[in-house]
Amino acid sequence: MKIAIGNDHAAVELKMEVCKWLEENGYEFKDFGCGEGEKCDYPDSAKAVGKAVVSGEFDRGILICGTGIGISMAANKVKGVRAACCSDYFSAKFTRLHNDANILCFGARVVGAGLACELVDVFLKTEFEGGRHQRRVDLITKMEEEF
Ligand code: RB5
Repeated sequence: MKIAIGNDHAAVELKMEVCKWLEENGYEFKDFGCGEGEKCDYPDSAKAVGKAVVSGEFDRGILICGTGIGISMAANKVKGVRAACCSDYFSAKFTRLHNDANILCFGARVVGAGLACELVDVFLKTEFEGGRHQRRVDLITKMEEEF
């Protein structure tokens, strides 16, 4: 599984912790975010990771800003992205099971490194349930054409 990861200046340290976890757990990943001392706007990282995921080059994305909110809002503007901002285990699991979310977002000012890695772990391991949920995800996709 190939992961695209990105962040803004508020989330450099946590992004580095998550990259370390991805490496230790055998995931292939590319960092689209900014590093220490760099200032970067969350919509730019969201766009880069969103494009990387919807192109099919990467299987899932991870985006981190201060709250996780701005970066998820921006990512959801990329057609084909279903980004979910989660700060609890249940939401990170069920956004895969029910929404087929392809990008996980969280806030560096909201969650610590331990919880962040748990969120990533369950998000990457959980498969979409399909069935009745597919029709609802299709309705979301249809909205992209309507508006
Ligand atoms: C940056 O200070 C902060 O606004 C950003 O990281 C994020 O929290 C926005 O939603």
